[in-house]
Amino acid sequence: MRLSALPTAALALTLAAIPFAASHAQNAGYGTQTVDEMNKLWGRHPGLRANHAKGVVVEGTFVPTPEAAKLSKARIFAGGSVPVTVRFSDSTGLPTIPDGAPSANPHGMAMEFKPPGGDPVDVVTNSLPFFPVATGEEFLALLQAVEASGPGAPKPTQADQFAAAHPQMPKAFSALKTPSSFARETYNGVDAFIFVNAKGERQPFRFRFVPEAGNDYLSTGDAAKQPPDFLIDELPRRLSQGAVKFRMMAQLANPGDQTRDPSQPWPADRRLVDLGEITLTKAAADNAKAQQVLRLLPNRLEPGIEVSDDPLITSRVQAYVISFGRRVQ
Ligand code: HEM
Repeated sequence: MRLSALPTAALALTLAAIPFAASHAQNAGYGTQTVDEMNKLWGRHPGLRANHAKGVVVEGTFVPTPEAAKLSKARIFAGGSVPVTVRFSDSTGLPTIPDGAPSANPHGMAMEFKPPGGDPVDVVTNSLPFFPVATGEEFLALLQAVEASGPGAPKPTQADQFAAAHPQMPKAFSALKTPSSFARETYNGVDAFIFVNAKGERQPFRFRFVPEAGNDYLSTGDAAKQPPDFLIDELPRRLSQGAVKFRMMAQLANPGDQTRDPSQPWPADRRLVDLGEITLTKAAADNAKAQQVLRLLPNRLEPGIEVSDDPLITSRVQAYVISFGRRVQ
């Protein structure tokens, strides 16, 4: 197992508007505890995210397929072009992590779709094929185990013991590779969500964003030789020469497939539906400012897309809200 690949993994007014599930109120300290733990691991960097601190914001549009509107009544799938803001990022809260470092994996692709006349929809994905653990509490325990496993820690370290007790963790991380460009990676929603269509039919699914240019990865040796900002710098350069395109896909659950455990992928034969095309055309002008004010939440949805019974979604939101509150202070 590559422990080096672990993810050592004004806004105050907007906080009031964040959708919360009342049933998780008893765990209100989770977000603070988790962000504190991330700050311990990676330092606290004013104005920056507690995780995925290093990134780049780009702009473009999304055009849905007719198939998408059959699955979901969400306005983003109704037809026509929807403006989208996308932030690509490196893992960890380290603002100067080299893009080619193993722990910069999984890379993130976080999106805000802004349908004309409708509410925004956020989709926050990364390049993990599935999550290393099933719940937010286990993820916090993983961060704590990594923190206790620094240089000089007795062997087997707490991280080694955690990995042995959570076999999906080494599997998930060992699937990660450094892409040659943010535009040449596939990004997964990991958590299950539910489509609801105009007839009220419900279909669990997981998002997947596939680069039209195809996946392309570097060997570990080549990744280590790249300049520290090679991914962040390459994307605006690539966009100045032409659009970058992704297919938005959904992997549909079969009846009976579980939706509450993001560490258990569905079998590969589950139907993949093409929901539409994202066309990215330019980097945001004041990128640092654009990154700071962007607040993306995996449960900011609109009718037609709902959260599933996956508890990780609420845990994520609790942590993102705390991180956002701190970085806009
Ligand atoms: C319990 C599990 C998780 C926790 C506690 C967590 C925590 C966080 C935190 C605190 C941030 C910074 C948010 C901000 O300041 O805006 C963040 C960002 C991010 N997370 Fe997670 N995360 C979790 C799971 C996931 C999963 C499953 C994915 C992908 C499927 C993911 C993808 C991302 C991405 C892409 C960003 C950057 C968002 C942006 O660019 O604005 N995280 N995460």
